Amino acid sequence: LDEVKRPTLVWLEFQDCAGDTEALLRAANPTVAELILDILSVDYHETVMAAAGFQAEEALAKVVREQKGKYIAIVEGSIPMKDAGVYCCIAGRSAVDIAREVCGNALATVAVGTCASYGGLPAARPNPTGAVGVSQAVPGAKVVNLPGCPLNADNLTATVVHYLVFNKLPATDALGRPLFAYGKRIHDNCERRAHFDAGQYVESWGDPAHAKGHCLYKMGCKGPETYHNCPTQKFNEKTSWPVASGHGCCGCSQPQFWDTMTPIYHR
Ligand code: SF4
Ligand code: F3S
Repeated sequence: LDEVKRPTLVWLEFQDCAGDTEALLRAANPTVAELILDILSVDYHETVMAAAGFQAEEALAKVVREQKGKYIAIVEGSIPMKDAGVYCCIAGRSAVDIAREVCGNALATVAVGTCASYGGLPAARPNPTGAVGVSQAVPGAKVVNLPGCPLNADNLTATVVHYLVFNKLPATDALGRPLFAYGKRIHDNCERRAHFDAGQYVESWGDPAHAKGHCLYKMGCKGPETYHNCPTQKFNEKTSWPVASGHGCCGCSQPQFWDTMTPIYHR
């Protein structure tokens, strides 16, 4: 059989909690092993790769040098812009410097998680490091945003496969999010919606309405203002999602939700 070259992917981590990497490690369709070993050539990922130090940085430099315009960049975490980007440095270079080189020369960039998309938690008021998302830090880069705390790894797989099959990024909304994953409100697909419509609300944690699975709106659920496919795609091999577990949606896929959608709980 002829050897088929797998598309090269590099994964950068900046100001983050590594939650999106954790989500990737739990990907089920396909699994992370299938993604890394069979489908893609993941040439750089600080958390997963065996190489370290100079050897690791050379792996990244080699991709940018030899595959300019042909590789996919994934970015996890926000990019600090204040004081020349000094608040996040890797191998002696600032995150903004690395992002501009790696994402600026990529075929396409996927910002995974709310931090890489819009600044996320590091950008919460008073945003001490001047944190922003990739689109803002790398003007002109071709970026699709997959926000969420963390992202749903199934949406990353679908985005990458879409690009490989159709040679273009999926259609997005005004916030750069693919419509296939962020085109509908949580509230519109929620399994508790019938209780919202009937005026049946949980009034305190653990009350009889909570036990019966009634609507969490009065407890602070932000589902009516949040766009994401959590109710249909779910997490961990379609096991569950926040509202099914009895917790309201925090609005984690909306920009600046830490500032605009808090307090998370109303009672
Ligand atoms: Fe809407 Fe939240 Fe109630 Fe579900 S639990 S119906 S998303 S308000
Ligand atoms: Fe986030 Fe709400 Fe989904 S908190 S994971 S957008 S249910």
